[in-house]
Order: sequence, then C-alpha cells, then structure tokens
Amino acid sequence: MEALIVPAEPRFAPAKVNLALHVVGRRPDGYHRLESLVVFDSDAGDTITARALADDESDRLTIDGRFARRVPMGGENIVLKAAALARTELKRFGLDLPPLDIGLSKHLPVAAGIGGGSADAAALLALVSSVAPPEARRAMAEACVHLGADVPMCLVGRPALVTGIGEEVTPIATMPRLSMLLVNPGRAVETPAVFRMLARPDNPPMTAAPAAGFDDVDALVAFLAESRNDLALAAGSIAPEIEAVRSRLIAAGAIFARMSGSGATVFGLFDDHKSLAEAARMIAAEEPGWWLSHPGQATQRNRP
Ligand code: C5P
Repeated sequence: MEALIVPAEPRFAPAKVNLALHVVGRRPDGYHRLESLVVFDSDAGDTITARALADDESDRLTIDGRFARRVPMGGENIVLKAAALARTELKRFGLDLPPLDIGLSKHLPVAAGIGGGSADAAALLALVSSVAPPEARRAMAEACVHLGADVPMCLVGRPALVTGIGEEVTPIATMPRLSMLLVNPGRAVETPAVFRMLARPDNPPMTAAPAAGFDDVDALVAFLAESRNDLALAAGSIAPEIEAVRSRLIAAGAIFARMSGSGATVFGLFDDHKSLAEAARMIAAEEPGWWLSHPGQATQRNRP
C-alpha cells in the first residue's frame, strides 16, 4: 500500500459562526433538520499539526493553548476519531495513513457553539485531504458527518448555506468582510442538552438567501433581521448569561448580535474594525472572565 505523506505545515481551524440557525424538523433517528447561514472567523481558531510516526506506533494527541485542559482526551477525542476515519477511507483507495503525532493548540472555548472539536476534526481531515487524490477526498468529505454534524461545514470552511443535519453545504459566492466579535461568558453548554430543551422541532424555514450572496453588510443585516437562531431560547434557559452577553454587545455598539450554534458564544457585527476594537476593550475590562475573539487586552491573542 502506498503511504501518504502528511504536510508538516500547521492547519488553522477557524471558529464556525451560525449567523442564522433554523430548526425545521426532526428525523426519525432524533437528529434535527437545520437551515443555517454559516461563516468562519479568520482571526479566531485552533491550530492542528500532524507528523508521521513509525509504523508500530499509534496515533497520539498533544494539546496546548488556553483551553487545553477542557478538551476530552483519549480515544473519544474527535481529532483522533477523524484520523481513524481518514485512515479507513484512504485504505479503500489503496492508501496508507501512517500513525500520527497530532498537535492541537486549543484557543477556542470548548462546548461554545463555534465549532470547536468539529473545527479541529475538519482541520485534520483537510491536512490529509490536501495530499489525497480527489476520490479519497470526496469519500472523507462524505463520511465526516459521522464525526459530528458540524464537521462537513467546517471542512468546506467558507461562507455557506447548510441544510440536512449539517451535511448539505452550499458555499455562498459573495459575502462582505465582517467586523465580527465573538464573546463567550465562560460557561460550557452541551449541545444535546440544548436540543432536549427545544420547545418544538418544526419551526418556520429561513427566507431564501439571495443566490448571489450579500453585497454589503446592510444587505446581510437586513436578511439576519428576518431570521432566527431557534436554539437561543433553549440555550438561554440553561445559561441565562447568553442574553447578558448579547445585550452587552448591543450596548457596546454592535449593529447586530445573536448566539451562534447551541451557545453560549454570541457574535456581534460592527460597522468597522475601530468600533469593534473599542467594544472589545470595554467588554474585556468589565468582564475579565469572558472570552473574546479580539484582543481586548494587549495580552490576549488567538492566532499563533
Ligand atoms: O453531531 P454532533 O455530535 O455535533 O451532535 C451532538 C448532539 O446534538 C446530537 O447527539 C443530537 O442530540 C444533537 N443534534 C441534533 N441535530 C443536529 C445536530 C445535533 O439533534 N442537526
């Protein structure tokens, strides 16, 4: 079998942000059917590296970074599961993925509604995919939803409309550059718990997004004003801090703020980078326990 040579360069795993998230039904297996508009934050994210080990070794994972201690370790770790999935899929095409020494720098909060583990798993798959033939790449992209419903969108990694339980990802051609601040109140929120609290699974669908995408932030905000995050109420009943974060972002000048995913992270959109930086400085000073995607203080940086 031919051995794959995994690139040595680190892979950035950006935060995933659900600008809108409608829950429109439930499948017989209990998973919910979603309609979501997602973007990725080019400044906030984790980093993944991979290095081949000798054939008689096993995959291993080393984690550092601010949130390293919050990451579940061992075989249940989603990054190790992603490596195993990649190996299985590649084998079908006569390719051998050597045992890997994987490094994860965990800068994003865990159980926060911004991808987290899914982003990391997708980054590992993207590393492997970058040196895999197209048919193996497609097989990995199709199989990766079994790792988690957010993995396919994180693997695409571009602004997109997402449907199904997360496996149908349609990239959006035009999306304005966003001045977006992510704020998390330091409270982990478990996704299954939020879905369990959901009052109803069959909410109205999202208004069709313009086929060409959004020319400017005003057009995007007008669209967002007509949409929702259907998980916000359920998440808010588990973590009331979420509404406090949202109000704080609006008070600090955000033109729009909403919870992402199943929370507790809230995104705020700003007119420009200057007003974002000003808001970040104010919020960081007042709420030192909150995580911000932008360096409110000079010492806080997310990107290596
Ligand atoms: O797929 P993932 O492991 O991220 O999902 C975590 C949990 O969230 C699932 O076990 C399920 O309870 C819920 N979920 C859902 N519908 C989705 C995605 C997640 O019900 N589309």
